[in-house]
Amino acid sequence: MNINGKAMRTIWVKPDGFPVEIIDQTALPHELKIVALKTSDDAAYAIQAMLVRGAPLIGVTAAYGVALAMRDDASDASLEEAIELLAAQRPTAVNLKWALEEMRRVLSPLPVDGRPRAAFKHAAKLATEDADMCRRIGVNGLEIIREIAARKDGKPVNILTHCNAGWLACVDWGTATSPIYHAHNAGIPVHVWVDETRPRNQGASLTAFELAQHGVPHTLICDNAGGHYTQRGEVDLVIVGTDRVAANGDVANKIGTYLKALAAVDNGVPFYVALPSSTIDWQMPDGAAIPIEERSADEVLHVSGRAPNGKVLSVAITAPGTPARNPAFDVTPARLVTGLITERGVCAASADGLLSLYPERRSGGLAVA
Ligand code: MRU
Repeated sequence: MNINGKAMRTIWVKPDGFPVEIIDQTALPHELKIVALKTSDDAAYAIQAMLVRGAPLIGVTAAYGVALAMRDDASDASLEEAIELLAAQRPTAVNLKWALEEMRRVLSPLPVDGRPRAAFKHAAKLATEDADMCRRIGVNGLEIIREIAARKDGKPVNILTHCNAGWLACVDWGTATSPIYHAHNAGIPVHVWVDETRPRNQGASLTAFELAQHGVPHTLICDNAGGHYTQRGEVDLVIVGTDRVAANGDVANKIGTYLKALAAVDNGVPFYVALPSSTIDWQMPDGAAIPIEERSADEVLHVSGRAPNGKVLSVAITAPGTPARNPAFDVTPARLVTGLITERGVCAASADGLLSLYPERRSGGLAVA
């Protein structure tokens, strides 16, 4: 997707094979800052401090983190150390664990001197596959938007989204935004309600930015306004991303997603969740045991933004000493989800629905209760 008219991905390797580079998402939308990752520690820091974020991108960054570790020391001990370090950075997005397991599967059987090259090659493969899965999510989700558009007499389809499940959260295209980009590219009029997504404002800083870069009409709203517009008939469809889908179809996503699902269901508005298969945790029977990241209270107690003098500042919004909690994700029960939009098609949010698209998992020790 484009920034300032130039096609970019969120992560890449310099042409001579080193270093890995990323867009520092903490600087957006005020500055397009590119950061080099030279070691697995750099990759771990980028994930922890959310220079990169979003489930698929966290996974791909971790894969490159392993490759960087292999460049320095390709021993078994180094491989395991890098995997342990990277896995510990954020607990909720299962893509992180998935990508690290993929790297271990490919690298462990290889002789040590073959590992660095194979690691970069496999990380690049995961990145390309992620972009392709997201593209296919868009093709499949486009049909949902097309059907709604057919009933709207040429008026825009109003789509509510939460957080950033756009191309910035992935390698390219995005999950929730991919059907939107495909609809826009196909000439279907769409308008996106963008939740600001406190406390880190991924909607305001990232989703609004990337939609604007692609020319998609959108309006930023505070998180509490989504229910109101949904109730007033101004939302035709909700599409969000996810960090982990349990085997029964329960869905973990950015804190506040559950409330959007409740409002959607109360008002008969379809609530879809878009994901690549790397986000399905087949071993997790339901959403209750999904680990929910608890982040620093500072994120709730402060907001950051650009001051009139152009400087980016963080300011306190509470009296000193105000206690705060900061769960980063919540779980939306499968019963509230109209459907899951995947790279293989759209299915019900249920064990049967998931298995209908991924039949090879039927014998895979699925943990459904
Ligand atoms: O804390 P973040 O910004 O990493 O959270 C991101 C989300 O919640 C996204 O919706 C999710 O990762 C899906 S990304 C395609």
